[in-house]
Amino acid sequence: MIDSNFKPVRIELTPEKIFEELDRFVIGQQKAKRIIALAAYNHLKRIFFGRSPHADLIKKSNVLMIGPTGCGKTHIARNLAKILDLPFTIVDITEYTEAGYYGKDVEVMIGELLYRSDFDIKATENGIVFIDEIDKIARRSSGMRTGAGARDIGGEGVQQALLKLLEGRKLFVPLNITQHWNKHDFVEIDTTNILFICAGTFSDLRGVSSPSAIGFETETTSGIRRDSITQKNLIEYGLIPELLGRIPVNVQLEELGSDDLVRVLKDPPDSLIKEYTQLLALDGVKLEFDDGALSEIAAYSLKKHLGARGLRSIMEEILHDIMFKAPGSIPGVVQVTPELVRDRLDNFDPGLCME
Ligand SMILES: Nc1ncnc2c1ncn2[C@@H]1O[C@H](COP(=O)(O)OP(=O)(O)O)[C@@H](O)[C@H]1O
Ligand SMILES: [Mg+2]
Repeated sequence: MIDSNFKPVRIELTPEKIFEELDRFVIGQQKAKRIIALAAYNHLKRIFFGRSPHADLIKKSNVLMIGPTGCGKTHIARNLAKILDLPFTIVDITEYTEAGYYGKDVEVMIGELLYRSDFDIKATENGIVFIDEIDKIARRSSGMRTGAGARDIGGEGVQQALLKLLEGRKLFVPLNITQHWNKHDFVEIDTTNILFICAGTFSDLRGVSSPSAIGFETETTSGIRRDSITQKNLIEYGLIPELLGRIPVNVQLEELGSDDLVRVLKDPPDSLIKEYTQLLALDGVKLEFDDGALSEIAAYSLKKHLGARGLRSIMEEILHDIMFKAPGSIPGVVQVTPELVRDRLDNFDPGLCME
């Protein structure tokens, strides 16, 4: 029930505006962008109404993103933080362990956020933490471990530790994240309004490598739908229900297709084609890409399952000689043809594409 004194306050960044901004930089993933724009808007509401009695009604909109490598999970989160102008940090959850074991304690990730916001405590308390590789801390069944009674300090133990962050508590966060710290080098941070965006590939669940995978190609009334992973699937995978309960917004991203990859190369304001064209223009070289050349690049990335992630390394490889010789020696226009691309990628090691 909304009381009569309640006055709506207009938040400049509506879900539509957040979506439009994301849309400029993130190709495809329409559904994911909509869901995340809305979650982000609700996060802003929490921040704005945080001290009002209505705050408790606005539930936390922590997000879980599931999708293959290089489809834009990190890219979306990074751009979102820019749009919202909030402190942002990316953490790899596999570096963390249950408190007391060798590895980072989960408080350190809030310490990193604090560092990113120049030790502004208020900004940190409204910031965004991107937790990558969440699927790697799935609970391991005891049978899979050697040594009776071994504790799952990197799996379920970390999930348990994450709970206290996600449920919103005051924590003592280390001020110094790079060295050992003393007792007095801590600051108290309330994590209630920190937005957590978790991401993972969950490749077995998506049926990438296992033909008996669950949640893949489910039959629905509208035909075959891919990737319909349910909460039940995630629990069977090894995420604990308490953790999932605190990550209410689940988003599934799709593998980028050939046309998407071509658009990633061309369309965003900071696209690779724009970047390299500019770079070579400084040497007086006009770089021109045949459409066929872009399709070749996309096809290569698809074949190697790199998503958009490999595109920069591929461009480096293709343009290496041109950039090397550009200062001075090459005449005005350089045409990048499909033949040139094929030729350059023939002996290219895609292992170098992984960032
Ligand atoms: N949907 C996309 N639109 C535009 N660029 C993208 C997209 N997905 C990935 N990229 C590009 O590829 C790079 C790697 O993608 P990333 O978001 O790190 O993939 P992942 O899903 O594995 O987190 C990004 O830095 C970005 O430049
Ligand atoms: Mg990533």
